Amino acid sequence: MSEPRTFYVTTPIYYVNAPPHLGHAYTTVVGDVLTRFYRLAGYDTFFLTGTDEHGDKVVQAAAERQMSPKAYADEISNLFQSLWPRLNISNNRFIRTTDEEHKRVVQSILQAVYDKGDIYFGEYAGHYCVGCERFVTENELVDGKCPDHQKEPEFRKEKNYFFAMSKYQQWLVEHIRANPDFIRPERYRNKALSSLEEPLGDLCISRPKKRLSWGIPLPFDADYVTYVWFDALINYLTGVGYPSDSMYRAFWPEANHLIAKDILIPHGIYWPTMLQAAGIKPFVHLNVHGYWNIEGGKMSKSQGMIVDPFELSETYGVDAFRYFLMREMVFGLDANFSESALVGRLNSDLANDLGNLLSRSLAMVTKYFKGTVRQPADPGKEDEKLRDHALKVVDSFESDMKALGFHKALMGTWELVGHVNKYIDEMAPWSLAKDPDQKDRLATVLYNTLECLRIISCLIVPFMPQTGEKMWTQLGMDGSICDQCVKDMKAWGRVRAGQIIQRGAPLFPRRDPTESDGQKDSQTR
Ligand code: MSP
Repeated sequence: MSEPRTFYVTTPIYYVNAPPHLGHAYTTVVGDVLTRFYRLAGYDTFFLTGTDEHGDKVVQAAAERQMSPKAYADEISNLFQSLWPRLNISNNRFIRTTDEEHKRVVQSILQAVYDKGDIYFGEYAGHYCVGCERFVTENELVDGKCPDHQKEPEFRKEKNYFFAMSKYQQWLVEHIRANPDFIRPERYRNKALSSLEEPLGDLCISRPKKRLSWGIPLPFDADYVTYVWFDALINYLTGVGYPSDSMYRAFWPEANHLIAKDILIPHGIYWPTMLQAAGIKPFVHLNVHGYWNIEGGKMSKSQGMIVDPFELSETYGVDAFRYFLMREMVFGLDANFSESALVGRLNSDLANDLGNLLSRSLAMVTKYFKGTVRQPADPGKEDEKLRDHALKVVDSFESDMKALGFHKALMGTWELVGHVNKYIDEMAPWSLAKDPDQKDRLATVLYNTLECLRIISCLIVPFMPQTGEKMWTQLGMDGSICDQCVKDMKAWGRVRAGQIIQRGAPLFPRRDPTESDGQKDSQTR
């Protein structure tokens, strides 16, 4: 069977109880990098992000500010919506769970599951963590507190509606076992399977209106609103126009959900069982990443340790910020954030390795050939080695990206950057330029250098869209880099003899490494 050519990627929809921080920025940048890569690879793509606006958590945060939940949700949702263009996020849609269309979709799915007999009325008593917005089991608590939120859960006993999730436990175990990439990386698949070793229980999917009115009313009982997770997960269907839109037919079930490890249970367990009950095919991949920590600890508002993506992208430039996030974290594992590490990568990988390579190459084309690319002569051994390496990097880049190995894809690209720098050092164009008999050799060396830079500009463009484009323009390439595809990258010889380079400002001015220490406090608040 041929691979489907559509790619649908989602981020979690973020709670509107606090402004966006580094963690939200990371997942959304990953979504954007993937979307841009899959576009290059020739797929039809759809990228969804948004905000999750119902539930106790938002009501509490709004009350602290003496605002109505809706006014508060509008304010914070706007902050998210204004951050994404600043980070060059190319989402196709921004969904809010307070959108009318979403309310209708949630109600239609609730009704379908209810009509099927998988929703029943009952009573439940348990420990509810408002931070997690779910009932937690005794096993999950550490010293009586939720380990993620450091708070004792509230005891709640209420009459409510329940989704017969336990009915689908066996199906889910079999589905996860039969589809090794359903939840990835493997550590999270194993985590989901191990929590499924315990009896699953049913899911309380309502809240009495008299206690919480900020939610989507149940279509079959006006005294209740929908539990926030049952409402929120369905955004992934609303986002592509479920049930009748052609987008839905094109993109579901090719969904790639991106989340961090904090919300594995709702996505890995509630969501597939909800889909199964509603008679909808499960998504293809749940992709789970680790946490960004600060100085080895959790980002925490109470300790003033929240990294602000607005400020960082402003200070260091959006591309350097995006590059750092993608290069520094191994998808699936935790990573440490520090501003000095960001400056380190900016100076070494971006300014020294890549920026210098471009500027020294273009300076030589200007000096020796008045800025015009010359026809290369027959390649020698070193030239072939460089070309073969460049083409090999494109192949491994493609497979690394599809396996979410972003840091590996970038490491491979930087090995090529290193190879081109070494090639220049060894071929020494400045010496060739002194000998009129070596004009053809000089033309060949500079041509191969520019051809590698063309390939590198396409490889980095999903990560650093502005930089890729700047390189493309400075190289004097025709057309837009956005129209390039992986096939073009692999076609050696796209730089044309006669094309005129356009030298520009350095891609990445170096930063003073001591500056970042002083600024640290202003970036965390
Ligand atoms: N509203 C729910 C999600 C519903 S999706 C149907 C929610 N919102 S959240 O605002 O708390 O966002 C959680 C997500 O933000 C994580 O899964 C992750 O994508 C991102 N991150 C939040 N903190 C993070 C880190 N410290 N590090 C990395 N990502 C983190 O849960």
